[in-house]
Amino acid sequence: MGVANERSIAWGIAQEASSNGAILAFTYQNEVFKDRIIKLAKSIESKTVLKCDVENQNEIKQTFKKVSSALGELDFIVHAMAFSDKDELKGNYSETTKDNFRKTMLISTFSLTEICKEALNIMSNKGGSIITLTYIGGERTTPNYNVMGVAKAALEASVRYLSVDLGRKNIRINSLSAGPMRTLAGAAISGARHVFRHSENNSPLKKNPSLSEVGKAAIYLISDLSSGVTGENHYVDGGYNIIAVPKENN
Ligand SMILES: NC(=O)c1ccc[n+]([C@@H]2O[C@H](COP(=O)([O-])OP(=O)(O)OC[C@H]3O[C@@H](n4cnc5c(N)ncnc54)[C@H](O)[C@@H]3O)[C@@H](O)[C@H]2O)c1
Repeated sequence: MGVANERSIAWGIAQEASSNGAILAFTYQNEVFKDRIIKLAKSIESKTVLKCDVENQNEIKQTFKKVSSALGELDFIVHAMAFSDKDELKGNYSETTKDNFRKTMLISTFSLTEICKEALNIMSNKGGSIITLTYIGGERTTPNYNVMGVAKAALEASVRYLSVDLGRKNIRINSLSAGPMRTLAGAAISGARHVFRHSENNSPLKKNPSLSEVGKAAIYLISDLSSGVTGENHYVDGGYNIIAVPKENN
């Protein structure tokens, strides 16, 4: 859930999952994305492509019913969706409006909880896995991330609480914290270029992650390679998160 185009993190994960033998279903937000997603899905032999705007509770319910009749039990879910008004991904956090706060939290955070509720009905008893995408701006401040940082903090807390609920059904849930990537959502944040360069220059690996690096780490989390791991936040950021003060003349 969350492919907008071939640069989307969800697409990076889908490609790795497909090359590891997964049979996939895709959702798209609205008609603007429909044709592109059908084409991408076709390129990895997926025929199940459904509209699901996560602001609409009924659409989420219907989506999981349809996925269940198309594919049967689900082994994993990738939640890679977020939204906030572009005008509030710049300037001061203190100027966030109530309407945008609500919308940002609903789409970027609460949708995970709602999806878990529906997905539980059709996930495998053998042990399933759910992942969501987050960013270090949920733990520490980064320029202009503002209300999205607050939403990511709540998303990461949701993962911890959901892990207890889902654990009883042998389903795991973790977040993957990716370094900055050049995607549609990434470009909505003002000054994204500065953040991109700063992370690249100051991470131990001197790079931001590629789509395929995020995809490969996601395979660990959605498969039984990580069968003993739940409620965690896993960084794929070239190690940027462990740096307090970067070396001089880095
Ligand atoms: N790009 C980055 O630097 C970065 C870093 C860390 C985490 N993330 C997170 O990764 C996830 C995926 O973002 P991306 O960077 O691949 O960008 P993207 O723009 O490719 O994907 C965002 C997706 O969210 C979907 N979406 C927004 N509102 C929706 C709604 N109401 N219903 C259904 N879908 C909706 C969009 O259609 C789109 O497919 C997001 O949670 C984002 O916050 C991004």
